Amino acid sequence: TGAGQLKGKTVVITAGPTQERIDPVRYFTNHSSGKMGYAIAEAAYGQGARVVLISGPTHIDPPKGVEIINVVSAKEMFEAAMSYYEKADIVVKSAAVADYRPKDTFEQKRKKQPGKWSIEMERTTDILQTMGDQKVEQILVGFAAESEHVEEYAMKKLHSKNLDLIVANNILQEGAGFKGDTNIITTFTKDGEKKEYPVLAKKEAAQFIISDIISYMERHLR
Ligand code: PMT
Repeated sequence: TGAGQLKGKTVVITAGPTQERIDPVRYFTNHSSGKMGYAIAEAAYGQGARVVLISGPTHIDPPKGVEIINVVSAKEMFEAAMSYYEKADIVVKSAAVADYRPKDTFEQKRKKQPGKWSIEMERTTDILQTMGDQKVEQILVGFAAESEHVEEYAMKKLHSKNLDLIVANNILQEGAGFKGDTNIITTFTKDGEKKEYPVLAKKEAAQFIISDIISYMERHLR
């Protein structure tokens, strides 16, 4: 496949973790480094797209040419992602968004006290679900980070969140998932295509994800 296949398209990508504040010094987060999402942003830009990369806190540099929007919490990621949704042709949600956040946050550092401390957690809004529910013509691509029953759970997310394509990774597999430079992915499309890939550099996996999205669009948007 040549370059420039996404010319004229706007691709919105979310990447990295979110941080959910407890007090000025403490937060909940996860192991996402942003590498997978940044690699997808680079691959989409390489195909000529306008790329908006909405990123949680990471330690890596955004790829050249992409518009970067930095966010911290799931709520901020929701607001940023929704503000670009209408203009997007393709959305890829590779971020590891927190499913829960502390119900109460503290303005001051919470002092050590004798005994236990329980933190009550509340659900965050599911960004992908909201996008699926409001979908007009966008191509919606989600990720599924699973530790078991990968295909079953990924297919469930594909259908219940009204996605066009889902990228599944088993986060317990050696060489897959969070932090490292490689991933082991399987892509499933709404029209029944399944592609299983071997362990690949995240940059290579990103190229395959973009080309699977392009093939899907060629089948559907003629
Ligand atoms: O960043 P890296 O270190 O390179 O790691 C890559 C990765 C493991 C984070 C990535 O490959 C991956 O699997 N990303 C999705 C992580 C995740 O949160 O998966 P999930 O199965 O919990 O969520 C399913 C989908 O819903 C995801 O597309 C997620 O972005 C989305 N979601 C989840 C919760 C929420 N509140 N809003 C969402 O949009």
